[in-house]
Amino acid sequence: MKRVVILASGSGSNAENIVKHFEKSQLVTVTKILSNKKDAMVLERANRLNISSMSFNRADFYESEAVLDVLKQNADYIILAGFLWKIPQNVLDAFPNKIINIHPALLPKYGGKGMYGMHVHEAVVANKEKESGITIHYVNENYDEGAIIFQNSFEVLPSDTVNDVAAKIHELEYAHFPEVIEKVILQNG
Ligand code: GAR
Repeated sequence: MKRVVILASGSGSNAENIVKHFEKSQLVTVTKILSNKKDAMVLERANRLNISSMSFNRADFYESEAVLDVLKQNADYIILAGFLWKIPQNVLDAFPNKIINIHPALLPKYGGKGMYGMHVHEAVVANKEKESGITIHYVNENYDEGAIIFQNSFEVLPSDTVNDVAAKIHELEYAHFPEVIEKVILQNG
């Protein structure tokens, strides 16, 4: 059984979808949900889903081994599901090719610092892009630059609002993220 820890900063609808996907899995178990925001909705979801959870601050993450220790004890893979802080080098070193992020755009477009969540969809609509989509990728030391594992796109209609694009992105994320995680784990062990 491979153990997955999910890191999330916000609502956590992807985190919940991943937990539900693996609830009866023989291959993957979600052991913990961690958040850098102590009032994030994802922590309420964790409670409701009976998944152990914890919040942490900048010092825990960047100036000590507190989070690293929790990850080492609980994770074979780390999944970033709307997690907005950069992963520190000590965590990258301990989990080579074992950290997977989802980004709500077709990278390399609309990636990098400040490009997250609704900011991405606002930019896509403002630039009248004809398509957008999701990218699932390994995490390295630069925001949104690790090797791409999976992408999927959809047509952005001229009438689509920022909220329409956000909804279409979430739909794609829910449909694909858990399955891609499963495939990676099956392939890489
Ligand atoms: C998701 O759309 C995810 O792709 C995005 O945050 C949203 C979280 O939604 N991630 C990023 O922007 C990372 N740069 P959720 O909290 O409902 O799962």
